Amino acid sequence: MSLLNHLPPFILGLIEPGILLYLAIRAYTTLLLQGLLQNGHPPPSLRSKAFGKFWERISPVPDPAAPLIGSATLVPPLLTNATGTVLDVGPGNGSLIARFTPAAPHITHIYGAEPATALHKTLRTNADASDLGRKYEILAADATFPSIARELVRVGAITAPDDARGTFDTIVCVRVLCSVPDLRGTISDLYRLLKPGGKLLVCEHTANPWRTSKGSVIARAMQTVYMLMGWSYFVGDCELTRDIEDELRRDARGRWESVDVERHFGRAVFTYVSGVLVKKGRPNRAALVGH
Ligand SMILES: C[S@@+](CC[C@H](N)C(=O)[O-])C[C@H]1O[C@@H](n2cnc3c(N)ncnc32)[C@H](O)[C@@H]1O
Repeated sequence: MSLLNHLPPFILGLIEPGILLYLAIRAYTTLLLQGLLQNGHPPPSLRSKAFGKFWERISPVPDPAAPLIGSATLVPPLLTNATGTVLDVGPGNGSLIARFTPAAPHITHIYGAEPATALHKTLRTNADASDLGRKYEILAADATFPSIARELVRVGAITAPDDARGTFDTIVCVRVLCSVPDLRGTISDLYRLLKPGGKLLVCEHTANPWRTSKGSVIARAMQTVYMLMGWSYFVGDCELTRDIEDELRRDARGRWESVDVERHFGRAVFTYVSGVLVKKGRPNRAALVGH
C-alpha cells in the first residue's frame, strides 16, 4: 500500500474501490476453487463466506496510535454521540468497536445486529477486548424490525417482539445501509426501534453528488463502472450508486427533530454522508428488561 499512499488523493479516490474489488474477487475464487477441488462442488453460502474472508482481511482492528485517514476520520467523532441502549447495525468483525471507547461510560448496553454469523467469533473477540466488553451482545439479525425483535426476545432483553418498538437511545449505521435489500423499509424499521428523542448515527458511502459543485462526474461514472464489474455481487450486496442522504432526508420534517448530516470526499468514488438524525419526541420509555 505504500506506493498507493504516494498517489494524488484524487487518483487514489478513483482506484481504491478497484483494489478492494480485486481482493473480493480473489477471496471468492479461492474459496470456489478450494470447494471444487476438495469436494467437487462450490461450498455452501459461498458469497457470504467469501465476503467474510475479504472483510476480515481488509478490516483489521486499527492501531489506536496510528493516524486516521479517509473515511476512518469520520467514525470516532460520530461515535462519541452514542448513549444509553445502543443498536450497532452490521458491525462486521467489530474492527470499529474500539472506536466506541470515549462513549463507553455513557453506554448501558449495546447490541450488534450482524447477519453474517461467520463474523461473530471475531466480533466477540473484538468486543471482549474493547472497553464495552460484556455490555456488547451479538444478535444474529439483519436490519429489519422482525429480525431484531426476534433476537431481542431470544436474549431476554424484551418479552414480546412488539416491545422492540422504541427500544434504543442510539442506533449506529456505519457502512451498512449500502447493503440492505430495502433501504426505505430499513430506515422505517430503525425509526420504529428508536425511542422518541433517540439518535440515528450514520456514516455511509453514497451516490456521488455529481450534479453539484461538491461532486465529480468522473467519480460518479466510476461508481457505475465498478457496479458493472460485479461490485455488488462480490462485496456483500453493497451498492455504490445508492443515494443514502436523499433517502435519509425523505420525509425528514415529518419524522426527525433534526437532520445534521454532511457529505465528505465529493471527488472520490467513496463519497460519504455522515452525521446525526434525532427522532421527534421526548424519551419516555423504561430501559430493557434486565438492563
Ligand atoms: C461493509 S461491512 C461494514 C462493517 C462495519 N460496520 C464497518 O464499517 O467496519 C457491512 C456489514 O453489514 C452487514 N450487513 C449486510 N447486509 C445487512 C443487513 N441487511 N442487515 C444488517 N447488516 C447487514 C454485513 O454482514 C457486514 O458485516
